[in-house]
Amino acid sequence: MPIIGNLNFYDKPVILAPMEDVTDPSFRFMCKKFGADIMFTEFISSDGLIRDAKKCLKKLELFDYERPVGIQIYGHMPDAMEKAAILANEVNPDLLDINYGCPVKKIANRGAGSGMLRNLPLMKEITERVVKVSKVPVTAKTRLGWDSESINILEVARLLQDCGIVALTIHGRTRAQMYKGFANWEHITKVKNHPEIKIPIIGNGDINDGKSAALAFEKYGVDGIMIGRAAIGRPWIFRTVKHYLKNGTELPEPDVFERVQIAREHLQKSIEFKEGMRGIYEMRRHFVLYFKGIPNFRETKIKLLTANSYEEINALLDFIEENFGHLKFNDFKSE
Ligand SMILES: Cc1cc2nc3c(=O)[nH]c(=O)nc-3n(C[C@H](O)[C@H](O)[C@H](O)COP(=O)(O)O)c2cc1C
Repeated sequence: MPIIGNLNFYDKPVILAPMEDVTDPSFRFMCKKFGADIMFTEFISSDGLIRDAKKCLKKLELFDYERPVGIQIYGHMPDAMEKAAILANEVNPDLLDINYGCPVKKIANRGAGSGMLRNLPLMKEITERVVKVSKVPVTAKTRLGWDSESINILEVARLLQDCGIVALTIHGRTRAQMYKGFANWEHITKVKNHPEIKIPIIGNGDINDGKSAALAFEKYGVDGIMIGRAAIGRPWIFRTVKHYLKNGTELPEPDVFERVQIAREHLQKSIEFKEGMRGIYEMRRHFVLYFKGIPNFRETKIKLLTANSYEEINALLDFIEENFGHLKFNDFKSE
């Protein structure tokens, strides 16, 4: 049974990846409902947090039902990271995660996120200081290396383990790859199987169904798996994957009727957690994905994307349920 920090999980935890502008409380609510075993907030800038930036503080909002849940922070300045770690601890997350993987230019080129893969002394200093001040276990998430010429994940894993990191998530791409190509799980498994590496290794990259999840555990031997993009517009991926891991069969994708119920609940939570009209605006991209591929849906989609009130959207969801609710996913998937 993997043990992550002081948390014991039943075998094979399936984890929701931290994703900026995605893993907010309403989305986490949906993923938890479908069985995500551990979840993470969007990354939070250490600078923003200590400057008291409203947007950053808002991201610290956690709810008891989502536990175990981790807060992820990033930054390139040891003082700011230490202070941010103290602030994050105040809301008592189950885990504090350090982002050493973000490939975005303005973050990585400043030396934060994946930029830290090119400055291991700084990574060491920041990790040690964060671990020292954190009352909750500290995890880290990183990539294989800066580029294919400088893959240093084994060295990084050793360093982070020595600093007191209790579990490491490895996204099987380099920074240079951004999100292109395929995740290379051979490197992940090398770290996992290295005799000096004792901490749980969470594998991440391209898991999008039960089969790829099972492969991660069976072939690559990781202690946990983390799912990112495949959960966007498909929070039920956690149900699908866990069903496969237990029974070895893929569940069918939800039919339209169920998608409407999921959209309704997500909308309610989005309105509950977000201020003003944001709860409605931010649901639009989820609607597009929830109802993607339904035949003859264009007109309804446009209405959904321009509706400006809860009542209007709810009426549209009623309409979808009545007119398309009989469709199974396979009826429209191949069109
Ligand atoms: C929209 C988006 C936002 C992301 N934001 C974060 C983030 O805040 N912190 C982080 O560690 N990784 C972030 N990632 C990377 C994911 O956590 C994950 O490592 C990556 O998508 C690979 O996993 P996947 O193939 O399952 O998507 C983000 C990815 C996407 C697509």
